[in-house]
Amino acid sequence: MNQIAKMHINSDTAVYGSLVFTCEKLIRHAILHPNRFKYLVQRCQNVITIIGSGKVGGDAALFSALRKLDREILLLDVVKGLPQGEAMDLNHMLSEQGIDVDIRGSNDYADMKGSDVVVVVAGSGRKPGMTRMDLLKINAGIVKDVVENIRKFAGGSTIVPVTNPLDPMVHITYKTSGFDRNRVVGMGNMLDLSRFVQFIHEATGYSRDSIRALVIGEHGENMLPLPRFSTVAGVPLSAVLSKQRLDQLVQETRQVAAKVIELKGATVHAPGNAISSILEAILKDKKRVIPVATPLDGEYGQSNVSIGVPAVIGRGGVEKIIELDLDQHEKEWFHRGIDSVKSALAGL
Ligand code: LAC
Repeated sequence: MNQIAKMHINSDTAVYGSLVFTCEKLIRHAILHPNRFKYLVQRCQNVITIIGSGKVGGDAALFSALRKLDREILLLDVVKGLPQGEAMDLNHMLSEQGIDVDIRGSNDYADMKGSDVVVVVAGSGRKPGMTRMDLLKINAGIVKDVVENIRKFAGGSTIVPVTNPLDPMVHITYKTSGFDRNRVVGMGNMLDLSRFVQFIHEATGYSRDSIRALVIGEHGENMLPLPRFSTVAGVPLSAVLSKQRLDQLVQETRQVAAKVIELKGATVHAPGNAISSILEAILKDKKRVIPVATPLDGEYGQSNVSIGVPAVIGRGGVEKIIELDLDQHEKEWFHRGIDSVKSALAGL
């Protein structure tokens, strides 16, 4: 055997030998110090923090736990006892399911230290008859304070703002955190598109699973459902439903959240689920193309504003913003949303 080959075998043997030694050490450590080892393993796991332990925050934790996105989910809230009680209730459910995701509740921001992803759903929700923008003054200060704590205790995390009015809150999050914009991933249009899919499902009778829909723009009165970029089993929606019917579905998508709030007082399960879908795309590095609200820096001809756009979502948060070739009508609605968000921010 020539000299080179012999050297390779010797160095491989040396590498192999040290690997075996390290594994033996690790196994011995795990046996002798199980708790310390468990902590070490857990530190290698993601940690999801959800700030705001009301109905939507609790549902986001529920869906994230059922999807097994994390070993541990931390629920934070300023209300004493609320996150702790929510965590206990969820843990009891998970115990029956045999799912080893531990939910913790806390009133101490410092507990979010080391979190990979922090969801911000703290603040007031809409009452019947209110628009999302009516919450601007109430929630701007709350979100600013929350994000200052995220910057202090979870400076390496990706933030998922949910609090309304979503798009201005995303921009406040971006400016307050000082994070790169890719680490600010607002949940708004993901929820809108789930409603658009429901209306298409009802109008066509086709399986929800065959429907791919898209909604971008302001998560508000000027949201932009996009029939031209939506399909049923790959067939463009415009070939399945008439323009008049599509216009109706677009309008219903804009108005349905207010209807749910009027009937049951709040929207809960759809936002909770949409949050966990975004968390899954980030934590499992799915490279999923979904609409999220994020700061623009030249995309769609816009800067210094945050709004919903299609993006590739993975471990790096917003990894790529996708620019659609919007027609005149679509551009008008998109710009209405931009103007609405910019004037809201100017008024703060
Ligand atoms: C909704 C709220 C979360 O659309 O904005 O249900």
